[in-house]
Amino acid sequence: MQTQVAENRIDTSRYARCVANSRRIRWDIDRDVIRGRRFDFTKRFLPDELSRVDGLDFLDAGERRLLSQIQGRTYANIFGLVERFIAAKVLDVSREHSLGDQNALEALVRFGDEEIKHQELFRRVERLCAEGMPAGYTFVPEPNAVASAVLSKSTWAVLALICHIELFVLAHYRESIAAHSEISELWKDVFLYHWKEESQHAILDELEWRREHAKLSAGQIDQGVTELIELVGAVDGLLQSQARADADYFVKVCGRTLSPEDAEQIRAGVLAAYRWQYIVSGMREPRFSAILASMITENQATRIADALAPIMHSTH
Ligand SMILES: [Fe+2]
Ligand SMILES: [Fe+2]
Repeated sequence: MQTQVAENRIDTSRYARCVANSRRIRWDIDRDVIRGRRFDFTKRFLPDELSRVDGLDFLDAGERRLLSQIQGRTYANIFGLVERFIAAKVLDVSREHSLGDQNALEALVRFGDEEIKHQELFRRVERLCAEGMPAGYTFVPEPNAVASAVLSKSTWAVLALICHIELFVLAHYRESIAAHSEISELWKDVFLYHWKEESQHAILDELEWRREHAKLSAGQIDQGVTELIELVGAVDGLLQSQARADADYFVKVCGRTLSPEDAEQIRAGVLAAYRWQYIVSGMREPRFSAILASMITENQATRIADALAPIMHSTH
């Protein structure tokens, strides 16, 4: 009982810190991020550590830049997509705090509000990309259809997926985007400002995931593990169709006729990059793997590793 009280006190101060940080760094799309700017299409968008375009050595510098811009456009659209179900889930779990810890309630309401703003930001990014790129780009998945499928799974599995996403978005910015001075300034700023608010989200994801975990029986957790595997499988299905769409768009607009073998290499290269960006880099992210490992049995860890092996080994 006493430990429970002490833990609640620690949690409420963590929620309060998230509220304070969220207030302090809150930004506006036009005033702070876009500031009347356009993308600089003479520069790359998604850095090579994530896009891996430099591995496609038959492409010249201009073609690699175009492929990094296509991937950067999809990168923004993917976050706009996942934020639809993240906002819905976070506002859903916030109700459990509505007559309880008011710091937790405020932290989660702000979290939901920020994700709604981020979706608007990424819609603006899509429009700015469309202005400077040839017609024909398509973003395949539909946010509400994806959200309905994800939200049909248990809260444990959905919070696990959200925690995974928000930890890899932090890692990508910190490790791959922040250091680059040669990428489009506006594109970089979009992810700088996004990162500032996501830093609080990742803390809240862990708190809520652990809170949910503590309520469940061993059988329910096991079911959560099964559903997490299903969710990652669904993400992979989505990446396969988007990688195909982006590679085909590139082949159509790159300005020369590529051999069927080269086109196939582009498709494989883009899929490997997307699997790295949206699945593998997150699964290997130390903070995520430590949280997950602390909640599951060895047997469940093996189940996850076996199920994801074909994806994890398809990229390096
Ligand atoms: Fe976000
Ligand atoms: Fe977020």
